[in-house]
Amino acid sequence: MKLQFVTRPLEHIDTELIVVGIRKDQPEDLNAVDALFGGSLRVWAEDNRFKGALGSSLKFPCSGTLKAKTLLLVGTGDNTSDALAEAAGHAGRAARAMGAASMTLSLGTLSVPDAVKAAETALAGNYTFDRYKAEKSRKAALSQLDISGADDAGAHSASVLIRAKWHNVTRDLVNLPPADLYPETLADAARELGDLPHVTVEVWDFDKCRDEGCVGIVAVGQGSARPGCLIRVRYEPPNATGHVAFVGKGVTFDSGGLSLKPSGAMQTMRCDMGGAATVLGAAGAIAELGLPIKVDTFIGAVENMAAANSYKLGDILTYNNGVSVEIHNTDAEGRLVLADCLIQACQVEGVTHIIDAATLTGACVVAVGNDYTAMFTDDDALFGDLAQCAELESEGLWRLPLHQPYKKMLKSEWADIKNVGGRAAGATTAALFLQHFVTDDVTWAHLDVAGSAFNDKAHQFYAPGGTGQMVRTLTSWAKHRAEN
Ligand code: BES
Ligand code: MN
Ligand code: ZN
Repeated sequence: MKLQFVTRPLEHIDTELIVVGIRKDQPEDLNAVDALFGGSLRVWAEDNRFKGALGSSLKFPCSGTLKAKTLLLVGTGDNTSDALAEAAGHAGRAARAMGAASMTLSLGTLSVPDAVKAAETALAGNYTFDRYKAEKSRKAALSQLDISGADDAGAHSASVLIRAKWHNVTRDLVNLPPADLYPETLADAARELGDLPHVTVEVWDFDKCRDEGCVGIVAVGQGSARPGCLIRVRYEPPNATGHVAFVGKGVTFDSGGLSLKPSGAMQTMRCDMGGAATVLGAAGAIAELGLPIKVDTFIGAVENMAAANSYKLGDILTYNNGVSVEIHNTDAEGRLVLADCLIQACQVEGVTHIIDAATLTGACVVAVGNDYTAMFTDDDALFGDLAQCAELESEGLWRLPLHQPYKKMLKSEWADIKNVGGRAAGATTAALFLQHFVTDDVTWAHLDVAGSAFNDKAHQFYAPGGTGQMVRTLTSWAKHRAEN
């Protein structure tokens, strides 16, 4: 993939596809390019009622007038930073639908951050997961992207490509079918990070998890023919100025266990390792960018199955930190696995912040839908930093209450707590459950990506499937921490 920030006159552009951004209800934006076509482009735009609305686009064959084959007008709406990014995403998606190998994106004069974001979003829009489809029905991805209107952004091209690459690694992991992506192959994917400088990867297999008292991983994982594991990725650059930990839910398939899900609810439950994929993608990007901050990543990888040896309702797990948990629903498995990882992460010397990411609750999807990740934390500064990073990356992040009085909903007759609250505030009680496994000396945030990690259908410029949301936000946050 070649990425350049260059501005050339339209008639000199020789990429297959030229994309020109048009603001909403600003017909003068068409003037320059329409002049090259002797006024016929404006007529075509009017005939098709293309007015520059965000999300709209219009194709026009160049028929020899330009070196490019196709011109695409994309609406940039009100031209805000978010709108420009979204338009770039739509351009990338359109390029993939055409199988264009090269594209020039011309959205007017861009600030350096907007140009960088346009490049990243265009590449995100260009992503699709088609490796299980017949070769003849696959469309080529871009191999060249030129961003026009910000020639001074060139210094960023290498980092854009690194971030885009890891963003799409996350999406691939989420999209892979559960027959191919299961705990051991998720561990293999993590081991690949070990090729990066200062990265080491350690995997505790199922027996080791049992020996170490990872009771959540063992209980949830025991009903599967695919042994679960705990994956740890350490990034320890010599020039580190801080130390944080990521924790990810890596349920490679969630059938619900004995509290079996209905078939329809199971259809997309390969996405239940979305949190793990998110933190792996972020860790990969951080390490490859060489950011000066230590990052320890913990992933609890299991398959939640219904079998003769599944864990059962009424079982009681006693965790390494002393907390005992009575199982009331085997479908509330993610929190059980995350608990082991949080206990481990809290024990790492020097870690000041822990962020976990998990497709944890259906209640989160109900509350904030697919465009938002729900965030839970007691720490206003951490919330502020993450919200600011999400804003910069045009990713949706919304804080929900980590309301301590609701902890009483987790009270158990037989153990310290049970693994479900009730119908009310389901995303909050899941977060409060996790908080039992975080020590007071670290600052912690929980990200519920149940809605944001995966889309059943194409959404905005995202192809169906994994979105990789929060990979860029977490990467930015690590950069921010390293610099401050
Ligand atoms: N993996 C699911 C949550 C989920 C639902 C993720 C929809 C993505 C889309 C999780 O393990 C689960 O089953 N949660 C239960 C918890 C309940 C039993 C307390 C839920 O939300 O219904
Ligand atoms: Mn579940
Ligand atoms: Zn789950």
